[in-house]
Amino acid sequence: MSGDTKRLRAVVKGVGSALPNRCVTNKELEETVDTSDEWIVQRTGIRQRYIAGEGETTSTLGIRAAQAALDRAGLTPDDIDLIVCATSTPDYTFPSTATMIQAGLGCTHGVAFDVQAVCAGFVFAVSTAEKFLVSGSHKRALVIGAETFSRILDWQDRTTCVLFGDGAGAMVLEAEEQSVAAAGGNLPRGVLATCLRSDGRHRAKLYVDGGPSTTKTVGFLRMEGKEVFRFAVGQVTDVMAETFASAGITAEDLDWFVPHQANRRIIDASAQKFGIPTEKVVLTVQDHGNTSAASIPLALSVACGDGRIKPGDLVMIEAIGGGFTWGAAVLRW
Ligand SMILES: CC(C)(COP(=O)(O)OP(=O)(O)OC[C@H]1O[C@@H](n2cnc3c(N)ncnc32)[C@H](O)[C@@H]1OP(=O)(O)O)[C@@H](O)C(=O)NCCC(=O)NCCS
Repeated sequence: MSGDTKRLRAVVKGVGSALPNRCVTNKELEETVDTSDEWIVQRTGIRQRYIAGEGETTSTLGIRAAQAALDRAGLTPDDIDLIVCATSTPDYTFPSTATMIQAGLGCTHGVAFDVQAVCAGFVFAVSTAEKFLVSGSHKRALVIGAETFSRILDWQDRTTCVLFGDGAGAMVLEAEEQSVAAAGGNLPRGVLATCLRSDGRHRAKLYVDGGPSTTKTVGFLRMEGKEVFRFAVGQVTDVMAETFASAGITAEDLDWFVPHQANRRIIDASAQKFGIPTEKVVLTVQDHGNTSAASIPLALSVACGDGRIKPGDLVMIEAIGGGFTWGAAVLRW
């Protein structure tokens, strides 16, 4: 192959995030459900979460996160021609949250649509946007994870309501032509590899017991916590191994591991399986709880904001969600 062969890659230009105004500590939850700060911290690592108030919705959080990502990238909504929003808690059954964000940003061209893979949604959205960008059909994408899980929680059910929170995160990806050969030490940047999986046989382990076509209601989140835990620790490593292999790297090459922030124990177990040291793991579950599709872009935003993730760093994102759905991606910043 000649040294000047080029290919398009989806390169990260900026990330941003948004949280609701109200922060709810474990102590506050003790007043409304039979739980304790000690139990929640010990089982999950969660210390607080943010809960959307009146006027705060998935799309309003998504718009704020998207605007923050555009600001970091030095771009305007006019520069964007693709918006992919991962959410399981849309403002309405339709239109999509992505089109509401598009309108909220004042963006009148391009295409916007939602992706639904629950907590794995952001990884699915990154993988989807990457395929549009490397095909050459679109130039710049806003990839958003935005959720208000507080609106589908049964606040009487202590086994679920203490685990989740609301928020949004966004990433700008841009199609960039790069040399295939790493000439002059120029390593490829952007999304290097992704791997997605799903297995619908596990529906009953994590689901919402309502919907437009069944109950005609929104429903509440239901979960067999132990089963989800077992699957998350046991299965998610297959997509990580496959992603490492197709990117041609090993876990040792990683600068940062940014997994879905559901539970500290699941994160620790996944990192340990690949020998990823704790110092390389970005952990935000203690501050945000499980914000489903928003958790990874929120964590990326924190780690970019405080200077941990820098240009050139090799980052793996990874998540599992209801379905089950699960996936991983490797990106060089
Ligand atoms: C939910 C989870 C933290 C529960 O931890 P666990 O060790 O499996 O706990 P169990 O469900 O066995 O419950 C242990 C006890 O704590 C109790 N308990 C459950 N929730 C509680 C709470 N919020 N506060 C206090 N006690 C609680 C249970 O009732 C049970 O009591 P019992 O022994 O008297 O019956 C854990 O299963 C988990 O993290 N699962 C994965 C969840 C997840 O990440 N989902 C999202 C994936 S995207």
